[in-house]
Amino acid sequence: MSVTAVVGAQWGDEGKGRIIDYLAQQADVVIRFQGGDNAGHTVINQYGKHALHLIPSGIFNPNTQNIIGSGCVVNPGALLDEMAQLEAAGVDLSNLWISARAQMVMPYHRLLDELEEAARGEDTIGTTKRGIGPAYADKAARAGLRIGDLLQPEWLESRLDNALRTVNRKIEILGGEPVDGQELYELCMAYRQKLATRIVDTVPLLRRAVQERRSILLEGQLGVMRDLDWGIYPYVTSSNPTAAYASSGAGLPARAIDRVIGVVKAYSTAVGDGPFPVELHDADGERLRELGGEYGATTGRPRRCGWFDGVAIGYAAWLNGMTGLAITKLDVLDTFETIKICVGYRLPSGEVITDSMPDTPVLFQVTPVYEEWPGWQTSTQACRRWADLPPAAQAYIRRLSELAGVKVDYVSVGPERDQMFEVDAVFTTAAAPASR
Ligand code: GDP
Ligand code: IMO
Ligand code: MG
Repeated sequence: MSVTAVVGAQWGDEGKGRIIDYLAQQADVVIRFQGGDNAGHTVINQYGKHALHLIPSGIFNPNTQNIIGSGCVVNPGALLDEMAQLEAAGVDLSNLWISARAQMVMPYHRLLDELEEAARGEDTIGTTKRGIGPAYADKAARAGLRIGDLLQPEWLESRLDNALRTVNRKIEILGGEPVDGQELYELCMAYRQKLATRIVDTVPLLRRAVQERRSILLEGQLGVMRDLDWGIYPYVTSSNPTAAYASSGAGLPARAIDRVIGVVKAYSTAVGDGPFPVELHDADGERLRELGGEYGATTGRPRRCGWFDGVAIGYAAWLNGMTGLAITKLDVLDTFETIKICVGYRLPSGEVITDSMPDTPVLFQVTPVYEEWPGWQTSTQACRRWADLPPAAQAYIRRLSELAGVKVDYVSVGPERDQMFEVDAVFTTAAAPASR
């Protein structure tokens, strides 16, 4: 029994949803600790295929408490839609809770996200337009409304008045239509009616769970390369998907976390703008996109694809203090004759770096240095143990582990819940991340 943070180790869409769904079969509590409905965490199990946006991916286990944590930004309208979809599929939502301290994404945040992207001209961030950046900006500016405010109508009304004074000016400057306070208040009262019984103070609940040594999963959204502080700023999201924020966003002491699992695809993908050194603009890139079904779960945008980035994984492993990797989508590489791995970035000066992440303007100019590995050219989809994997696939995974300096705990070979297994092999190459 332990507290495990599950975080994205690349640019997002690593397969966090399916890993959480698998691990949640044994979990007492799952908490989403940051982000909002910009997430699309795909889960395929006996309830069908679902792209979860806000609801934690442990929701399919009726015995698991699922909490949307205080580090999240919650659009109640989007949440209600998602709840309706899950209920229609027969999923029991009686253990779904929302932290009273989570911020609310209001309709004007979505509008501002659109207007701000448009105002950026050519230099867009490629946001999901779900209002995430404006909602976190209001949180930091202390102009946000919180989910718990729905329970205090008078307080909510005055907070809304206060917020709209600046929000409407911003909207007008950016060429949009100002929003009406009364209409928004009424919308909030409708949300209150539908969500009030799920709004909780998470502290007593989690305190008890930690004291009783329950099994707790902290679910991250996106990945380290889009972290507000450590990602490819400004082409990042407006919160911290790294494990250091997991305790704060969930509402647990930092030292309660025992394990950090970095979820990592066997190759690389990114959706949205910004530098992506390993991006392929050739037939291999196209092949990865088609074989991997690499289209955004939230926006449907085609994902940019490339080979595995060993520099990014070393950075991700260190920053997150990963204790293990979960490698997903190994099967997507099944038919390749040769597979490349990026093991360094060549700077414009000619110098090759392997163990640090250059800042954004430099990252635009680096060229990846590749190693070539032989493909296994046989299907891995039916593999259910380490020993079932072809030797070339084992060697490839060992190399990824070596570049991360972290052992591999799980491998997935298909999107279904049972197409995943715990690794029982010994990884002698693993170094403690803190020693890198
Ligand atoms: P998340 O946001 O990190 O949860 O990842 P997404 O759900 O956005 O993207 C992962 C995609 O890959 C989804 O369509 C999953 O169904 C799919 N997927 C996850 N693991 C595997 C795997 O091992 N093999 C294959 N072929 N697909 C997978
Ligand atoms: P999951 O949880 C992939 C990207 C956007 C954009 C940047 C900022 O499924 O991994 P935002 O809307 O957050 O202000 O956009 O982050 N982005 C994602 N990319 N998967 C996601 O979520 C993403 N959420 C945001 O494309 O580049
Ligand atoms: Mg996703």
